[in-house]
Amino acid sequence: MTAPVQLIPTAPNADNIAIINIDNPPVNALSHAVRQGIVDAITQAEQDENIEGIVIYCQGKTFIAGADIKEFGKTPKEPHLPDVIKRINQCKKPITAALFGSVLGGGFEVALACHYRVAIKGTKVGLPEVNLGLIPGAGGTQLLPRVGGVELALTMITSGKPQKVEQLDQYGIIDQLIDVDSNNKDHLLNETASFAKEILAQNKSSKVITQEPILLDEEQKQAAKSLCQQFRDKLAKRSRGQKAPQSAVNSIENSFTLPLNEAMVKEREYFVECRGSSQSRAMRHAFFAEKTAAKLTLSSESKPTPTNIKSVAVIGAGTMGGGIAMCFANAGINVKLLEMTQSNLAKGINAIAKRYQQAENRGIISKQKVNQCMELIDGTCDYQDLAQVDLVVEAAFETMPVKQQIFSQLDEVCKPEAILASNTSYLDINEIAKATKRPEKVVGMHFFSPANIMKLLEVVATDYSDDQTLATAMSLGKKLGKVSVAVKVCYGFVGNRMYACYGREANMLLLEGATPEQIDTAMVQWGMAMGPLAVNDMSGIDIGYQARKANTQGPKDPCYFAPADMLVEAGRLGQKTHAGFYQYDEKTNKRSPDNAAIELIRSHASKLKVKQRSDISDEEIQQRLIFALINEGAYILEQQIASRASDIDAIWLNGYGFPRYLGGPMCYADEVGLQTVVETIKKFQEQSGNDYWQVAPLLEQRLAEGKALTS
Ligand code: 3HC
Repeated sequence: MTAPVQLIPTAPNADNIAIINIDNPPVNALSHAVRQGIVDAITQAEQDENIEGIVIYCQGKTFIAGADIKEFGKTPKEPHLPDVIKRINQCKKPITAALFGSVLGGGFEVALACHYRVAIKGTKVGLPEVNLGLIPGAGGTQLLPRVGGVELALTMITSGKPQKVEQLDQYGIIDQLIDVDSNNKDHLLNETASFAKEILAQNKSSKVITQEPILLDEEQKQAAKSLCQQFRDKLAKRSRGQKAPQSAVNSIENSFTLPLNEAMVKEREYFVECRGSSQSRAMRHAFFAEKTAAKLTLSSESKPTPTNIKSVAVIGAGTMGGGIAMCFANAGINVKLLEMTQSNLAKGINAIAKRYQQAENRGIISKQKVNQCMELIDGTCDYQDLAQVDLVVEAAFETMPVKQQIFSQLDEVCKPEAILASNTSYLDINEIAKATKRPEKVVGMHFFSPANIMKLLEVVATDYSDDQTLATAMSLGKKLGKVSVAVKVCYGFVGNRMYACYGREANMLLLEGATPEQIDTAMVQWGMAMGPLAVNDMSGIDIGYQARKANTQGPKDPCYFAPADMLVEAGRLGQKTHAGFYQYDEKTNKRSPDNAAIELIRSHASKLKVKQRSDISDEEIQQRLIFALINEGAYILEQQIASRASDIDAIWLNGYGFPRYLGGPMCYADEVGLQTVVETIKKFQEQSGNDYWQVAPLLEQRLAEGKALTS
């Protein structure tokens, strides 16, 4: 195996400039071998009299995209990244970084430690460590404020969002910007070497980072301190429950209060503390869960090449169909949007235009992009217009006869190789597939509402879907910017099947005497983005009601979702009727507790002979809802509806507002410990006396084997 870092003593167009050539696919992460290689190459270059300047250059699709995240769980090996950063900055010969692709985390720290930076336009730079529950650990919180200022550092480091280099023009981070195609790396290398040569010719000094804190006068220092405090306050809400963003602010503050060496030591302490925390473990798990979910576990050895989908059709221009059409248009794909009547079609297209307009008003999308997207959406009421599309997503009424009729019609008109997908949330797609003569080309593509915003896509394999169809649906999801997760057919698939257990417990707790507000507050405090009952009011309680009525196989227990069903029957459908579990102001839609709803639930509980208690604690609420999720997730895993525990987590993180710093229900179960999970579920079984709390055998099995769910 060749070493991932090599010193090439002369650049093609500059014989006094050496290249430190990094080649560590896929993203040139700073593994131990790369760190050691950089240090050795610098020493070698310093000793070579013919070398006067150095360029750090990378092979592959990107400059260094960060520390090697896979190494974080292992014992760290010297040289540590801060040592490498120091070595780069203190090198006796000027070092210039040649930037392209995604210059992230440790990669950006390496670039900032270099004396000069040349970049291709479009290169993204950033310090995304907070997304992994970390802070930059090799000088990012000290170098970025020194180069770009305290405010830029606070913004970039606490958001973790990368920015294009041209957007940072005013901050002097990049010394030379090259306007060539991002693939033209030879040009980048030549230009950077010429730049390095020019530096020498001009006798420019290396930009060595000095020890003094950023020099601010007393007034500026007070302003910078108050800015830090503003960020802390904002982050307490925006990144609720997370430790890393707060530590990042503390560390950035040190850049103008402490000398560099001391501030670097403190930064490392924060970093090491974060790296060892359960939050960072969970967020690293989330990172890899999403990457792994994209990989299909196929039944055969075949490695199908996904079909390039150039045109699609969406059946149904309601809220869901409209949102799905927007997803395709946003990705530059032509969409035929089909409705049964011209008036429904006009309504649907107007609603899409309105949603785009709202996004434009909020500055999320440009007018030009809105126009491009609207042009890609072409309404029709005629199935014949779908004859040439590559793929269809059906988002019509959620009843089997309607769906089967649509699929049989699609089968008649669409070209034989076209893929037919259903957006059904619950129905058996095997039965839908049987309505066609191409069941192998039928698949579920389950989007989440609002489809143009939510990141999750469940790709549902039927018993007949072929590998090519699945690979195409997964790859299309990636093109739409979704986290696509392959699952199999069952009632509710993975996400909604688990959500039913979570909702079931929320409803049981209502019958037992907890109020909607108490349940929602407990769950928000636990970390969920919203409480289950507020979510239900928002999406419409009647949707679940209808699904339960249509599901003849569902539980016969009269208490099952009794409060929700009773409220629907009392005309309280949620926000759309200004009343559900809560009441909503007709003008502002502001939510407030509603004694009428609480009273209705109470009297219904007494009819059902459920004894109400006043001793329901937040902890009981949190455990009953979350452990119900975990238990169902374990059944799903055992039944191979999901291929991996991490797939279940990817679903919950991207479709249901599960806090990323807890990693998803399966990761959380491992963190709490399966012993505790099993014992608590058994306790709930005894307490409730019902069948819902049968411990999933997989939990007991993994516990007995001493294995984690996510291992
Ligand atoms: N370490 C290890 N592996 C990494 C990695 C990293 N930093 N970044 C990406 N990878 C792996 C992925 O897991 C994936 O592996 P796989 O093929 O086996 O699944 C492969 O590289 C390709 O990744 P993507 O599929 O994500 O490729 P894309 O082209 O879509 O995206 C990217 C590339 C923008 C670089 C994206 O991978 C990314 O955002 N990576 C994370 C970057 C990051 O968080 N860096 C900071 C790390 S922490 C740090 O540096 C701490 C420092 O301050 C001390």
